[in-house]
Amino acid sequence: MSLKISIIYGSTRDGRLGIRFAKYLKNEFINRNIEAVLIDPLENNLETLTKRYSDYDSNSAPNGLENIHQELESSDAFVIVSAEYNHFMPPALVNLLNHFYAEYQRKPSAVATYSVSPFGGVRVSSPLRSFLAQLGMPPISSMIHAPFVNKNFNNEGERISEDKDERQKEFIKFAEEIEWYANALKTARNK
Ligand SMILES: Cc1cc2nc3c(=O)[nH]c(=O)nc-3n(C[C@H](O)[C@H](O)[C@H](O)COP(=O)(O)O)c2cc1C
Repeated sequence: MSLKISIIYGSTRDGRLGIRFAKYLKNEFINRNIEAVLIDPLENNLETLTKRYSDYDSNSAPNGLENIHQELESSDAFVIVSAEYNHFMPPALVNLLNHFYAEYQRKPSAVATYSVSPFGGVRVSSPLRSFLAQLGMPPISSMIHAPFVNKNFNNEGERISEDKDERQKEFIKFAEEIEWYANALKTARNK
């Protein structure tokens, strides 16, 4: 079954680094014949929430919001790429996710965190997983954490770390699990 996965990235910070990890994930899923798209609040000029997407009259939502809606609506799963800002999610990620709701229902999510420290943003996983469950996209058990995102990835989204073969095995486990749930829930939704 063909699958589409949205890679949702949520930093709008000047000089943001996580875009490297988000690009890496997108490219890796494309290499597995998944239709992977990157959702970026900066590229879509997403403003601070004044109305959820569903509160706009039809055809009146701003272009960026409409674009994100279309991508999420047609996705079978979501990979949430999060930094750790004081052990919590970046505000731009929370803002982006809160604009939508119906688009997520009965579709799985997976957590991918990163940081410039050795911890790889792992401490944001718990609050993020609670948030995703409430949004209606239950998080899978597997997660992926990327430490030293500034050194281990280049601007093109290539992993350039010495341990890249070992890390590739982690990615494959992560990808196989989210794809399994995406297929299973897509089959169930289509019934
Ligand atoms: C407001 C703020 C809070 C941060 N808090 C943490 C933190 O709690 N733990 C951590 O490992 N790094 C922390 N960092 C460093 C981030 O890991 C680093 O800046 C990372 O590049 C942020 O992702 P971004 O570049 O995609 O915005 C923080 C950075 C900012 C700007």
